[in-house]
Amino acid sequence: MQEDLKAPEERGKEVSEGAGSEELVKMEGIHKWFGEVHALKGVDFSINRGTTVGLIGDNGAGKSTLIKILAGLIERDRGRIYYQGEEVEIESVRESQQLGIETVFQEQAIVDPLSVARNIFLGREKVHSFGFGKIMNDRKMLEETEELMEDLNLNIASPDQEAEFCSGGERQGVAIARAMFFDADVLILDEPMRALSVSGKEKVEEYIKKARDQGTGIIYITHDLHRVYPVADRFVFLSRGEKEMDIRKEDCSQDELSKLYRRGEE
Ligand SMILES: Nc1ncnc2c1ncn2[C@@H]1O[C@H](COP(=O)(O)OP(=O)(O)O)[C@@H](O)[C@H]1O
Ligand SMILES: [Mg+2]
Repeated sequence: MQEDLKAPEERGKEVSEGAGSEELVKMEGIHKWFGEVHALKGVDFSINRGTTVGLIGDNGAGKSTLIKILAGLIERDRGRIYYQGEEVEIESVRESQQLGIETVFQEQAIVDPLSVARNIFLGREKVHSFGFGKIMNDRKMLEETEELMEDLNLNIASPDQEAEFCSGGERQGVAIARAMFFDADVLILDEPMRALSVSGKEKVEEYIKKARDQGTGIIYITHDLHRVYPVADRFVFLSRGEKEMDIRKEDCSQDELSKLYRRGEE
């Protein structure tokens, strides 16, 4: 049910007045403990409209934890979150989506017995409304899924195929397609490409560039500097729960970045 999300025409209207200027998200002094593990130690993070931030760092650095807080999957222990300048509490994935944040998680929740199309519209199904009630508009969901699959070059046999018959790459494709469909203000991709083919990765990166140019703020988490460098405008480097570096691409070549990255890993 998209009606209670923001209308697409309301989004991005500031873009023509200067893409990249408006701050979409600001996280301040974020702390998170998992029992004894201090996973985030006062991290500041922000993202503007029309920019792609590469969020990098070694395993266990806290990247997924940080974005899960933004996505409403877990709650922070300390710190503040602002969305378009206003302080917010994000207590569920749904609340995050209602703000305009879409996330492709590392471990993606795809529901096996449902079709590809129903997975894409999960929780936001298209319905026909009648005087007496509502029924699912499967035809509309199938059509829109088919278009999306085509746009993304996803070779899934059919949008009404059950998700359990999809390969790892196809499932990841479905998750990415779902995030893309809703035209978010903020798109978070947490190591989204592991299971994708090279052409699948290129498609997703093309999409990232397009979405960014239309004003979306994109947080792209990956180990692969070689893939993220060309698409990102800024790099935020986390190490052991702390932000080590926040640098614009024009201030850092790919070589320099990979040296800094390796130094941080030692
Ligand atoms: N649900 C959890 N329960 C306990 N510890 C967790 C949980 N999630 C993450 N951690 C710990 O928090 C730290 C940061 O993890 P994570 O954010 O997944 O790192 P990254 O995504 O950068 O690899 C790690 O030490 C990890 O083991
Ligand atoms: Mg992670």
